[in-house]
Amino acid sequence: MSIRIEHMSHVYQPGSPFEADALEDIDLTINDGDLLALIGHTGSGKSTLAQHLNGLLTPTSGRVLVDGEDINAKGADRRALRQRVGLLFQYAEYQLFEETVYKDIAFGPKNQGLTGDELDARVREAFAKVHLPADTLEKSPFELSGGQMRRVALAGVVAMQPRVLVMDEPIAGLDPKGRDELTEVIRELHDGGVTIVLISHNMDDVARIATRVAVLDKGHLAMLGTPREIFARGEELESMGLDVPQTIQLCRRLREGGMGVPDCLTNEELAAAICETLKGGAADA
Ligand SMILES: Nc1ncnc2c1ncn2[C@@H]1O[C@H](COP(=O)(O)OP(=O)(O)OP(=O)(O)O)[C@@H](O)[C@H]1O
Ligand SMILES: [Mg+2]
Repeated sequence: MSIRIEHMSHVYQPGSPFEADALEDIDLTINDGDLLALIGHTGSGKSTLAQHLNGLLTPTSGRVLVDGEDINAKGADRRALRQRVGLLFQYAEYQLFEETVYKDIAFGPKNQGLTGDELDARVREAFAKVHLPADTLEKSPFELSGGQMRRVALAGVVAMQPRVLVMDEPIAGLDPKGRDELTEVIRELHDGGVTIVLISHNMDDVARIATRVAVLDKGHLAMLGTPREIFARGEELESMGLDVPQTIQLCRRLREGGMGVPDCLTNEELAAAICETLKGGAADA
């Protein structure tokens, strides 16, 4: 399932003193199987773009096509769209409201008309995908940690079986353990065939798991490419107020110190590159 954004612009509150050009002439295709990271400084338009992907916002101009169909055309089936494209909001844990985790996850599928065994299977399947302890299912979501609550909210979206999952800063504010666990869940969902759009400020995670990276700068799509292509443009990223992954920062320092390592995206890659260089050095000696 592909999503195509064509010359899309979004102006908030046009004609009022609060008018804001949030997105300008965005052209972007999200392909089936992508894990597209959407990065950009605060206020660059990431959340606005996320909300266009499942029709929560309507473009001021331009179009959003899901499988070739203009989702904002008259008569477009918004309900079916929201099932195909799931959106996990920023701080989604604040939207939990049911008495138990089970009921919270069941809320969406129940609204889709599922009942009985089918509903039960759907809830348990989604719950299993977010790797929470089994006894959490009957607990109140409010007894859980922030990271666990966020995974419950994610299970609620996963239970709708979306083909595309858009996540707005799912790991923001979590401790390192919660962050790693959730990143692993995201990677597994992607491996399981879900196309993912991941908004993140964590460049280390983006480098580790994204297949492509889109960079927004003041409402414009400034760059689009593989993590390796994007993070090779460190100075431009820094000029937009963005970081590069720690491994890339370290590679730069090693090069400054005279060690000929290429840019590495993960710790494993970095370790291998250092070993290779040391071996080369030993061979030269
Ligand atoms: N409801 C609104 N009314 C007016 N302006 C808005 C509204 N929501 C967002 N904006 C403005 O639109 C621009 C893009 O906002 P958006 O929330 O999409 O950015 P973001 O990249 O998600 O930022 P952050 O990293 O802080 O979450 C900003 O200038 C913001 O102030
Ligand atoms: Mg945002």
